[in-house]
Amino acid sequence: MRATRSLPLALTLTLALTACGGSALSDGGGGGGDDDSVKIALLVPQSGVYAPLGKDMEAGFRLYLDQHDNQLGGKKVELTVVDEGGGPEDGVPAGTKLAQDESVDAVVGVVNSATALGLVDTFAEAKKPLIIGNAGADDITGKESSPYVWRTSFANGEVGAAIGEKVAEEVGDGKVYLVGPDYAAGKEFLAGFKSSFEKAGGKIAGTQMTPFGKTTNFQPYLQKVRNAKPKAVFAFYAGSEAVTFVKQYDQLGLHKDIPFYGTGFLTEGGALTAQGKSADGIFTSLHYSSELDNETNAAFVKDYSAKNDGKPTVYSVQAYDAGAVLDKALEEGTGGDQIVEGLKAAGEIDSPRGPWSFSDEQGPDQTYYLRKVEQKDGAWSNVVEGDLTKPTS
Ligand code: PHB
Repeated sequence: MRATRSLPLALTLTLALTACGGSALSDGGGGGGDDDSVKIALLVPQSGVYAPLGKDMEAGFRLYLDQHDNQLGGKKVELTVVDEGGGPEDGVPAGTKLAQDESVDAVVGVVNSATALGLVDTFAEAKKPLIIGNAGADDITGKESSPYVWRTSFANGEVGAAIGEKVAEEVGDGKVYLVGPDYAAGKEFLAGFKSSFEKAGGKIAGTQMTPFGKTTNFQPYLQKVRNAKPKAVFAFYAGSEAVTFVKQYDQLGLHKDIPFYGTGFLTEGGALTAQGKSADGIFTSLHYSSELDNETNAAFVKDYSAKNDGKPTVYSVQAYDAGAVLDKALEEGTGGDQIVEGLKAAGEIDSPRGPWSFSDEQGPDQTYYLRKVEQKDGAWSNVVEGDLTKPTS
């Protein structure tokens, strides 16, 4: 929402040049905010296997706005929510449109790693800030990094790596079988796990990648897992795939014989509610649990639960924290380069996940927790068992 948009072009240019000595013309982003307002687009899945994740992210971002008088950096927020869809075939065109929309100052969201990888260059070229609120593709804060792309979530490899040493200790001489969806994120979560697990002396029994977004019958894959007689299984799935996988693992009788480990997305939020008893005892790694015992989280869980059906999830927190970092960054102004300067100076974020700050790679430097599915106060919960070794890869 740029107030000058309704002025004649010549006058607009004169005002911009007078006020900023010309720098407004070269400032990246071209966004839509005047001094008092800012336009933010939330790009999250409203369809596909990750639709429940998108809902949690929207609820988290909206909670931050509600708690802050609908302002970020002292500017009134105009929020637009756009569907990321099920994968890059929907998400990349939707994100590209937002990157090129001059009325949008910054974009928050993106769940799917393949979609995020397909958007980095577009946002870099448009000089528009993209605050990734989930997608963990390792290269985004690694070799594909851009000054305009930041992340309030995680890098895939880290979440897997965090639990490798613990599983190696548990299985001793036994081997572990790896399973996940066949796309960027699935591969990276398993690779991260494998690297720290093998470093700690662990051995792999086998790996299977299932077609992403279209596998509803996991039984043929699970049968192969059973035949390999592993000492444990490690998996990444999320959203509706996580529900189906965990239920079928239990239905086939694997759960009682083979200990089950995973990334925390496997048993998060609505997925755990739907899995119920079939998830009992699963150990996972994640940078959040609604059960974390700290004051910021207690207040967050209370406020979130009052407005939504159920407790917050890691997705809600990542989007809530995107609100927190933008709140600081937008104090610098609404231009792309101004927001980037503000993000660089954001400092420590007092988050429900525990305090964190941006690393030099523009992603969170944060603690990963070991969680175990148990019943607590009559509900299936991810009870926090302790901190995990900081991943080094
Ligand atoms: C990803 O594609 O990066 C991704 C998707 C869902 C998750 C975590 C990571 O829960």
